[in-house]
Formats: sequence, C-alpha cells, structure tokens
Amino acid sequence: MARPHVSIVVGSNRRDSINRKLAQALAKLGADKFDAGIVRIDDLPMFNQDNEGNLPPEVVRFKNEIGAADGVLIVTPEHDRSVPAVLKNAIDWGARPYGKNSWAGKPGFITGASPGAIGTALAQQHLRAVMTGLGMILLGGEAYVTLKPNLLDDQGNIGEDSTRQFLQGFLDRFADLVTRLQEPRAARSAA
Ligand SMILES: Cc1cc2nc3c(=O)[nH]c(=O)nc-3n(C[C@H](O)[C@H](O)[C@H](O)COP(=O)(O)O)c2cc1C
Repeated sequence: MARPHVSIVVGSNRRDSINRKLAQALAKLGADKFDAGIVRIDDLPMFNQDNEGNLPPEVVRFKNEIGAADGVLIVTPEHDRSVPAVLKNAIDWGARPYGKNSWAGKPGFITGASPGAIGTALAQQHLRAVMTGLGMILLGGEAYVTLKPNLLDDQGNIGEDSTRQFLQGFLDRFADLVTRLQEPRAARSAA
C-alpha cells in the first residue's frame, strides 16, 4: 500500500496564522506515518453557483488536490463562534457542483487553536456538522488547542510535552483511520 497522503486545509488566510504554523508542526509530527501538504484556499474566489458549470481554475486545482488525498486534516481558528468565512467558502466549492462532492468518503481530522480556554470548540462543533453532512468520515474525540506563548518552539515544533503527546495520539489514530480506509479504496479502483 502506498504511503498515505493527507491534504491539510488551514482555516485562516492571515499571513502569520498560528493555525498554519500548528498545521506545519502537525505535518512534521505525523511524518513517520503519512505525507502531508497544505492546500491553498486564500486564492479561491467567493463561491457563486453561477460559476459551477465553468469552474474557475483555482477551484479546479483545489478540488483535484482534495480529491487525490487519502485523508484531510483541517486546522482552523474560530471566528465569531463559528467556522471562518474563508474556510466555509472552500468547503462550499469542494462540495459542488452537485454529484462532484470532493469531501465524500474522505477520512478527516479536525483541530484548531485560539487564545481562549474553549478555543475553537464551537467552530469545530459547527464544522463537524457540516463535514459529516458532506459525507466525511471524521475522527472521534475533541482536539482543542489553547494558544500559549510556548505552543511552538524555535524550530516550529510543538513545544510543550503534554500538548505534543495529546496531538500525537490524535495523529496516530488518524493515520490508522486513513490507512484502513485507503485499502478498500485501492481495491475498488483496481477492480
Ligand atoms: C473576525 C474574528 C473573530 C474571532 N472570533 C473568535 C472566536 O469566536 N473565538 C475565539 O476563540 N477567537 C476568536 N478570534 C480570535 C482568533 O482566535 C485569533 O485571531 C487567532 O489568532 C486566529 O487564528 P490564526 O492566527 O490562525 O488566524 C477571532 C478573530 C477574528 C479576526
């Protein structure tokens, strides 16, 4: 079985996004089990159903990258107690046009960081409802990361032992889910 490839979607288009840095740290933490790369969403135009019949090239690229992934890791902040608009825009493009839902059947893991103690909990809850509705197979559990000054070290790794171990546990279970779902998918495409 080929080494699994995970597409990472970061729910922030901010230049110095802490969630992008966390995503990069998670990619390194999971590197013994899967390859991972961040999929760009900040160049996607605002969703407009009028363009579904002739998708903009950025959208085609985005849907191809998600479609080719064995799993999707979403690392997102919370905006106004919900999913940031830039992420919801990408999700809507991924879901359309009807019959070409890029998310269906993909194993997914949702996490995110914000300064608050319950940081990203509501955004993640809303996101779970959306992604489950779109047919993603989401990893169970709740991975909320509170943004503290030592979250990341100078090398961009997760600095605190307890947080690193907490997230490593999720990544191990996510890698297991991705690998288990990769096998039937490979068998179906060979048939
Ligand atoms: C429009 C807006 C709304 C926000 N709403 C929330 C919120 O509901 N809950 C929260 O914990 N933080 C909220 N924040 C603070 C973000 O968690 C913080 O800006 C964080 O750094 C964003 O992540 P990023 O660095 O990856 O962009 C909000 C920030 C912005 C700009």
